[in-house]
Amino acid sequence: MLVNFSTHDFPEVSAEEAASFIENGQTVAVGGFTAAGSVKLVTRSLAERALEMHRNGQEFRVRLLASASTDAAVDEVLAAAEAISYRVPYQGSRLLRQQINQHCVEFADMHLSHMVPLLKSGALGPIDFAIFEAAAISSDGRVLLTSGIGAIPTIARMARRIIVELNAYHPPDLEGLHDIYELDPPPRTREVPIYRTSDRIGSTLMQIDPARVVAVVRTDIPDNPPPLQPMDDISRKIGENIAQFLLSERLAGRIPEKFLPLQAGVGNVSNALMGTLCTDSAFPPFDMYSELLQDTIFDGIECGRVRFASSSGLAVSPAILRRIYDHLDEYHKKLVLRPMEISNHPEVIRRLGVIGINGALEVDLWGNVNSTHVSGTQLVNGIGGSGDFSRNCAISIFATPSTAKNGKISCIVPMCSHIDHTEHDTQIFVTEYGVADLRGLCPSRRAKTIIEKCAHPDYRPLLYDFLKYDKGHIPIDIQRAFSCCGLKESTSLNTIPCRSD
Ligand code: COA
Repeated sequence: MLVNFSTHDFPEVSAEEAASFIENGQTVAVGGFTAAGSVKLVTRSLAERALEMHRNGQEFRVRLLASASTDAAVDEVLAAAEAISYRVPYQGSRLLRQQINQHCVEFADMHLSHMVPLLKSGALGPIDFAIFEAAAISSDGRVLLTSGIGAIPTIARMARRIIVELNAYHPPDLEGLHDIYELDPPPRTREVPIYRTSDRIGSTLMQIDPARVVAVVRTDIPDNPPPLQPMDDISRKIGENIAQFLLSERLAGRIPEKFLPLQAGVGNVSNALMGTLCTDSAFPPFDMYSELLQDTIFDGIECGRVRFASSSGLAVSPAILRRIYDHLDEYHKKLVLRPMEISNHPEVIRRLGVIGINGALEVDLWGNVNSTHVSGTQLVNGIGGSGDFSRNCAISIFATPSTAKNGKISCIVPMCSHIDHTEHDTQIFVTEYGVADLRGLCPSRRAKTIIEKCAHPDYRPLLYDFLKYDKGHIPIDIQRAFSCCGLKESTSLNTIPCRSD
């Protein structure tokens, strides 16, 4: 163990006292990546402080910067206290989503790979407080991080003051799992010297300025991500379709024998389909180069199907995190955690030839993808790292069930009502019905392929009807694409009245 933490080194205070340092209107940057390594205690006290001030008729809201989504103790709890005025770059809280959609909170939806460069450039303003979790800290400012890194190295370096949640749940023998590396800003930025998924280029500990640590708060609360849905038949079928497609690419020589590293996005479908890839005996062993790792990957690591995994956070259930911590000797050889600046860096994704697999809300006939806004207006989560990977990877796959809301909504639509990934950044689409490989196809062929291979059979006649229009390179009657889809009446592209029920 690196450190003999001593209460003499830093002011050890209660969460309430730490929260009392934060003033209305200040910018607070929290560490961790998803619920992994997220702050768990100080933000609860901050919410109580906000509620108390609101009861006294005083304004209290903070600008909240994070790396991605957070533990409920951050977004959900602070949103419930109406204590957030501004939030970047991604979120996953139902309550915060509502407040964003009701204009109570300003939210900038951002590629995760843009977050750290924007912070460094100063475009997101100064940071008053960085709050992050550590497993250990030494008096000279060396920090052992926990299960998620995200933007911690940057926010810890930039913040005027630092609050550390020293969490005893995370064992000291985590040391060695992290690879902390920060890029210099332009024009001094150098290449990221990662040539294999398992390459380590930085240090196992993070260095901070100990003079800026104003509070250390002790906790022992484990990560607590929201539970994922168990695998259903549709996700299993999507997983099988992806496995078959990738195997045929390998057979055709477009993927090398030893395979390419995989990235898997966030959510139920992604977790389930990775479960299929990790258990399909026909599928060869592979590496993961991802921004996060969900539960099923660890079954793959333990049975040898996943050779090595690199990510910015362990977005896993408490039971899986326990399993990892109980077998850290083994995991040190198979796992590395990196800052999001590196896990999502376009250069590395392109160099390694990552196969990116991400989720979508809706996909249109031309290959555009909406990952974020239902009906083009209502935010779900955000773009996250899906664009970092889909634009830069060797093979980009978007996977979605063909329908949502018990079949009442087609996820294949004439024209996406909001576009996160343009036709230029997408290649392969997979639903439970099949695989549409759009690489190199003109718009008309793209449209036919996606209807034939991916759309639910009930929706195919309506979608084919859109192909009768023949003007222009992208032959779609834009007015009809939106108006016939109920946009005018219900503002919902997805209330396509095409099923008899
Ligand atoms: N219209 C309306 N609602 C839709 C929809 C559509 N076309 N497609 C899905 N939904 C709803 C589902 O019904 C579900 O709603 P619920 O939470 O009320 O049950 C919700 O969206 C999530 O859909 P689900 O099918 O369970 O998929 P998922 O959990 O795999 O998530 C995304 C799908 C797109 C929301 C998710 O992948 C995401 O947030 N992507 C953007 C970020 C990202 O890709 N990061 C990648 C790097 S980690």
